[in-house]
Formats: sequence, structure tokens, C-alpha cells
Amino acid sequence: MMKKLNFVVNNRKYSIEVDPRKTLLDVLREDLKLTGTKKGCGSGECGACTVVIDGQNVNSCMVFALDMEGKEVITIEGLAPKSGEIHPIQQAFVDHGAIQCGFCSPGMIMSTSAILEKHEKPTEEQIREGISGNLCRCTGYVKIVDAIQSLAENK
Ligand code: FES
Ligand code: FES
Repeated sequence: MMKKLNFVVNNRKYSIEVDPRKTLLDVLREDLKLTGTKKGCGSGECGACTVVIDGQNVNSCMVFALDMEGKEVITIEGLAPKSGEIHPIQQAFVDHGAIQCGFCSPGMIMSTSAILEKHEKPTEEQIREGISGNLCRCTGYVKIVDAIQSLAENK
């Protein structure tokens, strides 16, 4: 039986009927068509599905959508200040070559957003800890850390 879910995604209020067995990830991708959040492992291992919930980075494949009642979720689609623009975090990733295949990038960028919300000028250790749940098989992480450090320096 479908259940009612009231929550906010990217500053927009939703009141929708959802299958109670569905994860937040599947509701974002399938019901709300927000496919920027990627499905990798589906079991909490890769971080490709990372979104920010009430300021905290969370693997959206590991939470039931219904648990989002009353919460605020930000996905990669909600990061840019205006439609057609990209967010400074996205620009820093581009400028530092921190994106190769791009599959990890939405999740990595959402974790970066949570890091910068928690720490005004994060240390390298805080950055590495903050992205420790996000796997990237292409970049070797150095360019990603460089990109995040450049944002901290420019604050
Ligand atoms: S898809 Fe959620 S952690 Fe891999
Ligand atoms: S850029 Fe390919 S997995 Fe990170």
C-alpha cells in the first residue's frame, strides 16, 4: 500500500504517495526524475548516491524514503544558485580536473558541500575524512582534494 510522504527537495515542497519499500534514492530517481543522484552499489559502499539531508551527507540508497517525512533534502540538481549556472564546487572540480568519468562526481560534490558547511576552512584530513565514503576509481583522489582545498582557500 502506498503511503503519503511530505518533504522538501531542493527547496521545493513535495507531498507524494510512495511505496514504503522504496529507498530515498529510488524515489528521487524514479518518482521525482532527479537522476543526477547516481545508483552505484545500492548497498552503502560507494557514495555515488550521496545527498545532503538537513546538512549531513547521507547515502540515499540506505534510507527509506518514508523516513524523510518533514526533512530537507538537497541533491546535485539543487546545488546551483540558478538554473543554467553551476555551483562554485562544480566549477572547482572542473578547474582542477577532478572529474573523469563523472560517475562519482554528484556524490563527491554533495559530500564536499557538507564538508564546507561543517568546516569553514577544512584541513586536508577533514577533507579526506569527509569524502571517505565516496569511491572514485578514476582520479586517485588527489585532484579532488586539490579542488576542495581551493574552495577552502578562497573562502
Ligand atoms: S549507491 Fe548508495 S552507496 Fe553506492
Ligand atoms: S571520476 Fe570516475 S569514478 Fe570518479
